[in-house]
This record gives sequence, C-alpha cells and structure tokens, in this order.
Amino acid sequence: MAIIIEDAFPGDILRCAQIACDSEIGRRYGFVQESLAARMQERLIGGDVILVARETEQAAPDIAGFAWIDLKGGFGQSPYLKLIAANPARRSSGVGSRLLAAFEARTHGRGRAWLLLCSDFNTQAIRFYENHGYAVVGALPDFAKDGITEMVLYKLQEH
Ligand SMILES: CC(C)(COP(=O)(O)OP(=O)(O)OC[C@H]1O[C@@H](n2cnc3c(N)ncnc32)[C@H](O)[C@@H]1OP(=O)(O)O)[C@@H](O)C(=O)NCCC(=O)NCCS
Repeated sequence: MAIIIEDAFPGDILRCAQIACDSEIGRRYGFVQESLAARMQERLIGGDVILVARETEQAAPDIAGFAWIDLKGGFGQSPYLKLIAANPARRSSGVGSRLLAAFEARTHGRGRAWLLLCSDFNTQAIRFYENHGYAVVGALPDFAKDGITEMVLYKLQEH
C-alpha cells in the first residue's frame, strides 16, 4: 500500500475521528465520533498539527491513519503526541511507524524530548512505542478515566 503523510485538511477530520473510535481506546474511553471531530477541528485552528497517512493508489483515496500533535503539550515545552491511530484494516503494515517518524521529523528541535501517554491495557501500543525508542517513565492512575492508568512515555531527541 502506497501512502503519503501530509497535513490534514478540515474535510479529513471526521474520518480520522471515526478511525480513533474504531479502536480499543475508542471503545474503552467511549469516544464519540462527532464530538471528537469537533475537538480536533477546534485544536487544529488553535495550532495543533494533525498529520494524515493518505492512500494514493485508489480511485477514492482513504485515510490509513493519523497523528494528532500538540506542539508544546509536554509540560508546555515538548511536543506531545496526543493521539495516533491506524485504520484497523491497515494495522501492522507500517502506517503507525510512518506516522510516528513523521511526528518526530515535524517536531524535532522543539524541546528536548517527545512525550506521549498510553493506556496500561494497550500493551501492543506500548510495545510499538518501545520498539521505536520510547521508554515508560511513569504512570498516572485514573488520569483520564477511573480504573485506567495512563503510562507516560518519552524519548529524548538527539541534538
Ligand atoms: C498503535 C498503532 C498506531 C500502530 O500502528 P500500526 O500501523 O499497526 O503499526 P506498524 O505496522 O507500524 O507496527 C506494527 C506494530 O505495532 C504494534 N501494534 C500495536 N497495536 C497493534 C494492533 N492493534 N494491531 C497490530 N499491531 C499493533 C505491534 O507491536 C506491531 O508489531 P508486529 O507487527 O511486529 O506485531 C495501531 O495499532 C493503532 O491504531 N492502534 C489503535 C489505536 C491506539 O491504540 N493508538 C495508540 C494510542 S496511545
């Protein structure tokens, strides 16, 4: 599958929100497509970056995944990866890795590290991040929802 990574257009956001809803975190957190999309649109206008992985080989190109970035969301000084998700039909085909690399390339030089949170039950995603050089450095019990601990992951940038 050929994809390009580029900045999202406003018309992409509803599909991105659908992809996020269609995941274990979407189900566990009870994401609602329309309200998530509204929040993403709002933050896009407010300065966040949303990258999409766009399929290029189809007549009606779909979105294979997206990464939502808050440029200073890590304690006001480091890039924070707010949400990343691949279309379930495209998982394990490199889309997430391409998006993670694009997140790092896009934000390199801002702050000293990249930060993200990942729910404790999402063990496959934690492994995915660890495979890309991220380390679990903390845990936030009940941070976003009772009963779910958010693991804090970070990766120091090379200067
Ligand atoms: C985590 C995620 C973005 C990785 O994207 P991807 O395109 O599947 O990742 P890649 O193909 O680049 O790498 C595959 C690796 O990701 C990991 N992985 C994480 N979650 C996975 C899932 N649900 N299905 C398959 N692989 C997954 C595995 O370690 C896998 O390695 P393997 O193929 O050797 O088993 C993607 O699986 C996803 O969208 N998950 C649901 C949303 C989510 O949990 N996001 C993270 C929020 S913190």
